[in-house]
Amino acid sequence: MRLDNRTALITGAATGIGRACALLFAQAGANVVVNHLGDHTQAQTLVHELQALGVQAWAVEADVSRATEVDALLVCLQSLAPPIDILLNNAGIIAEKPFLETTESDWDRMMAVDLKSVFLMCRAVLPGMVARASGVVINIASDLGYLGRAQFAPYCAAKAGVMGLTRSLAREFAPHIRVNAIAPGPVDTAMVSLESMSAETIELELAIPQHRFAQPQEIAATALFLASDFSRFYCGQVLGPNGGSVMP
Ligand SMILES: NC(=O)c1ccc[n+]([C@@H]2O[C@H](COP(=O)([O-])OP(=O)(O)OC[C@H]3O[C@@H](n4cnc5c(N)ncnc54)[C@H](O)[C@@H]3O)[C@@H](O)[C@H]2O)c1
Repeated sequence: MRLDNRTALITGAATGIGRACALLFAQAGANVVVNHLGDHTQAQTLVHELQALGVQAWAVEADVSRATEVDALLVCLQSLAPPIDILLNNAGIIAEKPFLETTESDWDRMMAVDLKSVFLMCRAVLPGMVARASGVVINIASDLGYLGRAQFAPYCAAKAGVMGLTRSLAREFAPHIRVNAIAPGPVDTAMVSLESMSAETIELELAIPQHRFAQPQEIAATALFLASDFSRFYCGQVLGPNGGSVMP
């Protein structure tokens, strides 16, 4: 599954799943734009690791939940990197809170980072793909977008929204541009940790048939498949590397 001579833009790529995808895409020959928000050192370290694999790599900071920053990111890329062939919308946040304590600003922030960012990035990158009649978009959703989870209503709603957006864009931009999503189960990253979740939630996350967290590389393997020509008949699909949490 090679990605030679292609350029991938990965949002929220300095850590976790995004970082693993950047490394695997580079191993497959892709140039990588590492988007991050405030993770300068980690993003720069990753860029050096990617360049050591023999590809071109750039770090670009932007808050992808804000239209002005997404537009500035695209302007910056026009002079910095080749056209984007692969857009991986990975940036995301999670928050655990009882629904009745959820404020309007909690809701708006989750929607902005986990759902609106996908809209903004696709709106910015798709015109170039349309002009070249070629491109791949991969959106990171979550198994919780199907399952729902007490204390996580805004996150689950945003991730279900990502799946709906994926299907709509897949229909609108086929056949030349392929849009698909990944809905991972629990993955061993900072997002699923005692700093961000209660012990009860972590226990729930582990109560899946495989009884373990995925490593970020296991999600990256699915992303590489969707980015590559091996998945050329996949359109509007949501793939589920989830340890059995969802069996549609
Ligand atoms: N870890 C899991 O169990 C799991 C499961 C299902 C889905 N996911 C999804 O996978 C994606 C990656 O998460 P992860 O587990 O690697 O956690 P992570 O916290 O390591 O990665 C999220 C990244 O997004 C970045 N980010 C957040 N807001 C941003 C913004 N406004 N602009 C740009 N970057 C921003 C963060 O700085 C971070 O680098 C997320 O969309 C998450 O919802 C994770």
